[in-house]
Amino acid sequence: MTDKTSGFRTAVVPAAGLGTRFLPATKTVPKELLPVVDTPGIELVAAEAAESGADRLVIVTSPGKDGVVAHFVEDLVLESTLAERGKFALLEKVRKAPGLLDVTSVVQEEPLGLGHAVAQAESVLDADEEAIAVLLPDDLVLPCGVLDAMSRVRAELGGSVLCAIDVPKEQVSAYGVFDVEAVEGADADVLRVRGMVEKPALADAPSTLAAAGRYLLDRAVFDALRRITPGAGGELQLTDAIALLIAEGHPVHVVVHRGSRHDLGNPGGYLRAAVDFALEREEYGPQLREWLEFRLSENWDPTAPAR
Ligand code: UTP
Repeated sequence: MTDKTSGFRTAVVPAAGLGTRFLPATKTVPKELLPVVDTPGIELVAAEAAESGADRLVIVTSPGKDGVVAHFVEDLVLESTLAERGKFALLEKVRKAPGLLDVTSVVQEEPLGLGHAVAQAESVLDADEEAIAVLLPDDLVLPCGVLDAMSRVRAELGGSVLCAIDVPKEQVSAYGVFDVEAVEGADADVLRVRGMVEKPALADAPSTLAAAGRYLLDRAVFDALRRITPGAGGELQLTDAIALLIAEGHPVHVVVHRGSRHDLGNPGGYLRAAVDFALEREEYGPQLREWLEFRLSENWDPTAPAR
């Protein structure tokens, strides 16, 4: 598929952060490679990008996180060992990531923020690419397909398109929250963005629509990223560049995703995702369910023989 139908052909995945919420694991293991059951979060996100028509993945990585890109490179020794041993199901699994799409990497020398990470991707884009998709590997937005909806909105309304999830009121202060207005004649789940408030108190929240980690950004974002100054923590914020675009009249819309979402960026959210995915797997689901029910029941006894 080309960008004629999907609106983009490059998906940028920023993976150069420090992953401090996962220390000490992230001293040596990149957060993006932590497995959800058996598959790294970044592979799940790359598969989503490929399904939505991307043919190139640009991973923004940092010095010392080479394993993230290596995950997408063929390992011929491992593959031939698995083939010799007749382990064809495993062979298929290890071949999946390298076969999804072309992978390029760019290096963010220092973790200077998500906006700064995205800016690094500009150097590898082709001159005719008018938009890029950005997918945060921390965020699983399920079922896949929201990028397709976002592409349709860009085709119709132009500009940049973001993804929102409707969260319970009491959770708004954990998110970036959109200030939106209706678009005449559009689907009720497509709204124009007037602005965004980071982690507002409930009373100040302009809506219950929280940013999820999917962006379809017009190339104009790179120019905006050059013109903003560092915000909180000395970091270049992607939301500041988007706010600048809005202020200058660039159309920015959200698509409200009506599905589920997992935040893999912190241990609590990551564990929920792992349990959710494992329960769906035929080889682990039934036993895990049985154990969870026992673990949560009044009969739970940590000294009883293992079940
Ligand atoms: P996060 O803030 O969730 O990731 O950024 P983090 O900074 O690695 O994690 P904590 O907060 O220290 O626990 C969202 C995504 O943006 C990337 C991260 O790798 C993550 O995938 N990112 C963030 C960068 O690539 N560069 C940065 O400077 C910051």
